[in-house]
Amino acid sequence: MAHHLTLRGSAPYLDKGQKLGTKEIDYIMLNLPFKCNYNCIKCCNRRRKYKAGHLELSKIKSYILKCKNLGARVVVIAGEGEPTINKNFRELVKFINKIELIPYIFTNGSMLNQELGLFLAENNATLVINLDTLKEDEYDSLVDKKGSFKNLMENIEVIRRVYGKKIYTFDGCRITFLAINLVLNNENYDQVNKIKEFCGKDILFVVNKPINIGSASESWNKYDKTSDIVINAGASYPLGTLAEGDQCAYMRNGISIGSDGKVLTCAYALETQDLYGDVDNDIESMRKKVLKSVDNFYKKYGTSRCILRHPKYHEFINFNKAMK
Ligand SMILES: C[S@@+](CC[C@H](N)C(=O)[O-])C[C@H]1O[C@@H](n2cnc3c(N)ncnc32)[C@H](O)[C@@H]1O
Ligand code: SF4
Repeated sequence: MAHHLTLRGSAPYLDKGQKLGTKEIDYIMLNLPFKCNYNCIKCCNRRRKYKAGHLELSKIKSYILKCKNLGARVVVIAGEGEPTINKNFRELVKFINKIELIPYIFTNGSMLNQELGLFLAENNATLVINLDTLKEDEYDSLVDKKGSFKNLMENIEVIRRVYGKKIYTFDGCRITFLAINLVLNNENYDQVNKIKEFCGKDILFVVNKPINIGSASESWNKYDKTSDIVINAGASYPLGTLAEGDQCAYMRNGISIGSDGKVLTCAYALETQDLYGDVDNDIESMRKKVLKSVDNFYKKYGTSRCILRHPKYHEFINFNKAMK
């Protein structure tokens, strides 16, 4: 029997163990202060206007423990920049694994050499590596760094060897710890099937639509045709969504924590840092505030699976300020 490939820590994976929403919270979406070794044209977090914060690691750990007590099972290290170059990265991953939560890391893959790969595998980290094209020159130009495609290909080869050994079967699914995430632009639709093939049977492949924020907004003419494309052609559903779901579980069933310890609507909704309050407050009431702000907005402007991809997202802040 062919087993369906599922990513450890994704919404479909969690739902198998215990239905999403059974406890107050399933996901913690965590940001570390923006620092990156790439300059991606599409980056939703570059050139954002907000006040960055630098929380002590002990504070971050206490927030994670607080959320664990409310049922959190996964810590998504979402950004803001490249987590693997943050000074606290390794200690954070070790801590998350030690308290038996799933470290779930978005990365550009540039630092994933054998040594880091073994460390991450040992600490049961799920990796979501971004790859928008297999064309070398195009890739280097998208991330604005020569030689980065070659480096990434070498790293993926090493990582898939290390991570291949971790695949296991659960409830009729093959559970992998490795995903590749392609973000669509106007030019890379031809790469969808190529990268899907590249992922083979051991890496989960997912396609995402671009978000019109950060530096992506400055070159939106390179992304504006993607809404016409059927994104799930042969690829998995967005990792934070159940196949039948129309809402993002990272948000509906989680809490997003900014680099300054403020609650955000979603990890990449940086401009919402003054809307809700500090994560030091009662998490349940913070979550109620977040969901109310989104639901009120959807009632007026129509629903969207992802608040950031809502065509009127840029009005979200003023809408909520007016509601206060
Ligand atoms: C902000 S990045 C941070 C992690 C890491 N630096 C990376 O690039 O994978 C997290 C994810 O968001 C994706 N991303 C960045 N900008 C985006 C945009 N404008 N629209 C959609 N996805 C975006 C990246 O490709 C990556 O998969
Ligand atoms: S998308 Fe990731 S790798 Fe690219 S600039 Fe942004 S944070 Fe860095």
